[in-house]
Amino acid sequence: MPKKNSHKLLIIHGPNLHLLGKRETSVYGKTTLKDINAALTKAAKANGLALAIKQFNSESDIVDAITAGGYDVLIINPAAYTHTSVAIRDAILGIGKPAIEVHISNIYKREEFRRRSLVSDIAIGVITGLGPQSYTLAVEAAAIFLKTKP
Ligand code: DQA
Repeated sequence: MPKKNSHKLLIIHGPNLHLLGKRETSVYGKTTLKDINAALTKAAKANGLALAIKQFNSESDIVDAITAGGYDVLIINPAAYTHTSVAIRDAILGIGKPAIEVHISNIYKREEFRRRSLVSDIAIGVITGLGPQSYTLAVEAAAIFLKTKP
């Protein structure tokens, strides 16, 4: 039986991830964002975690959602902003909540410019390259983190 939802996760999908399933399927696969969100909802429930899921194309919306708080762990796929956004990095640092960075593709196996992340060194961990499972593994990791953190 799933446990009580005492902790809350905020999942943020960054720009262009609303196109999953249609977008560069050789890189990102055919799974849609709706499918991913259904799997996330299931994983959160199984781990007794409450969940809010948001997708934004604009950097300022992402900063607003991060800094609004109201969650215990942030799971974020900053998408293209991973490689460029000081604002998203500063928002995560500013709110001071633990964050897990997620990518569907392996950013280290692709173009040179994707190998630099402005989030990785301030995240508690990074899951990259495991397809849609990167997200559900992040939920598992958040559950373990919340159970074991001092
Ligand atoms: C991505 C990788 C980024 O480099 C890219 O800009 C994305 C998706 C991923 O999930 O693999 O939009 O974050």
